Amino acid sequence: MTISIRPLNFTDDAAACDSVLASLPYFFGDSDGQRDCAVAVRSQAGFVATVDGTVAGFITLLLHLPDIGGSTEITWMAVRADHRRHGLGTMLIDAAVQRCREDGVPMLSVLTLGPSVSEEAADNYEGTRAFYRRMGFVPLRELGLRDWNDASALILARAV
Ligand SMILES: CC(C)(COP(=O)(O)OP(=O)(O)OC[C@H]1O[C@@H](n2cnc3c(N)ncnc32)[C@H](O)[C@@H]1OP(=O)(O)O)[C@@H](O)C(=O)NCCC(=O)NCCS
Repeated sequence: MTISIRPLNFTDDAAACDSVLASLPYFFGDSDGQRDCAVAVRSQAGFVATVDGTVAGFITLLLHLPDIGGSTEITWMAVRADHRRHGLGTMLIDAAVQRCREDGVPMLSVLTLGPSVSEEAADNYEGTRAFYRRMGFVPLRELGLRDWNDASALILARAV
């Protein structure tokens, strides 16, 4: 099995990223979210992880407030269901961190579902939060987001 990381190419990769998202219905079941992610993989910078040449994961990145020394947000990230826990997510974060360093961006942030939201599924956002903690992200605070139907979002960030 050969794993590679390379920059996201809208033309070649967007449909494969849509398929990765579709493999994770618990995490990405919301149709508005699916639409927003489809736009992101066709317009934002990012990276894809390939396994034997096939896209099996991706990350999209958005720079905020560059004029006042802002930060990069991970807007979307997913690893195909049958390739999780094989290190692809770690490699995608490493690539994002490296890109921030090259661009002189000091902080990387991400929003994910907050711990105050109870979840019945066994495989849930607790694992996502554990992943980001493992990657060095620090939970900053929860907040209700109108975009998320007021669901509680957790902001995490790490220095790069
Ligand atoms: C979160 C996600 C991107 C992580 O990618 P991944 O390739 O599975 O992660 P890695 O294999 O690099 O994991 C690195 C480490 O993070 C931790 N980790 C990852 N997933 C975890 C989970 N579900 N539960 C607990 N710890 C986890 C572990 O310490 C893991 O190391 P280990 O496997 O040696 O124990 C991926 O599982 C995913 O797509 N999840 C569903 C969608 C999602 O939550 N996207 C992010 C939305 S903000």
